[in-house]
Amino acid sequence: MGKEKFTLPSGRKVERVSIKGTKVTVKVLSLGATVEDIIYDSAEGSRHMILGYDDKSLYETNPYYFGACVARVGNRIGGARFTLNGKTYELEKNDGNNNLHSGKDCLCFRDWEISDLTDRSVTFMISSPDGDMGFPGEMTIRVKYTVTEDDALIIDYEGQSDADTIFNPTNHSYFNLGEDSDILSEMLKVDADCFTPGGKESIPDGTVSPVEGTPMDFRSFHKIGDRIDADFDELRYTGGYDHNYALTHDEVSEKYSLAGLRVFYAAELKDEKSGRSMKVYTSLPGMQVYTGNFLKGDVKDNTGKVVPHRGGVCLETQYFPNAINVPDFSQPIAKAGEITRSRTVYKFS
Ligand code: GLA
Repeated sequence: MGKEKFTLPSGRKVERVSIKGTKVTVKVLSLGATVEDIIYDSAEGSRHMILGYDDKSLYETNPYYFGACVARVGNRIGGARFTLNGKTYELEKNDGNNNLHSGKDCLCFRDWEISDLTDRSVTFMISSPDGDMGFPGEMTIRVKYTVTEDDALIIDYEGQSDADTIFNPTNHSYFNLGEDSDILSEMLKVDADCFTPGGKESIPDGTVSPVEGTPMDFRSFHKIGDRIDADFDELRYTGGYDHNYALTHDEVSEKYSLAGLRVFYAAELKDEKSGRSMKVYTSLPGMQVYTGNFLKGDVKDNTGKVVPHRGGVCLETQYFPNAINVPDFSQPIAKAGEITRSRTVYKFS
């Protein structure tokens, strides 16, 4: 464990905590509770497993959500509006007619406080007032990052509100395990028989479609780039993968489950050339696969190299996007007074 402080050109003070497993070092920032870096050490040297900005001031606005802890609610809410307990709440429209990643006041742009620090873990805490970003309830949110001896990054989210509210935090790290500047040759497997088409605005409406026979099928390993530009409407709307998968949850991970919180195998990413791989486990029902289709070569990564189009892939575990407006979807609701938890694990080898 290491802790350091630095000051951005704006005068903003940031704390950086490094936690270590055996081969993996994870660096997290108090700014946004952001995962700044995941470094994998091997005989061939050190390798950055995620994208981070070389210019640290970019974390203040985080244009691509690199490593972001997106909260209170990740992904889109259709019409930037929802109704809870008979009352309608309006959110910022920052993605056409819709709300994306809780808008410009996302907790991923704020300063979090370190509430606990051990050799292998750090917990960040933030208080979000009633009405913050448009969401009801005064809420205390904690995110704990732990790196295990066997090189898993465990992310535990916890939220408690004084009124019923919606809560769907996720991590927006862009993984790139290989030596190529983009992720097109990396192999992906997703434990999902179905995905939730979002149409032209990426807003799932309750439709759950089988992946079978489509370029969305990752039930067995496929190269990400093989079918990414296929003539398939859902891929055309989003310029590549940017879709929520309905996870099968047919394989419990005894190792990562907690009392009262079952965690399931969700996905696997591997780079065949280097042999590096990552498994994803989560307690959450969905996972957004986003292949960095909006990246356009205008930022540099942690090594100073330009990040190209599709330079990383995000595997954002979550309740389904727009779930709050689709009663059939599992609801991302945090009940007043209760502690709402979720866990996601990224295990490297
Ligand atoms: C999510 C969305 C994408 C995009 C990114 C942020 O993954 O689904 O459409 O907005 O966040 O760039």
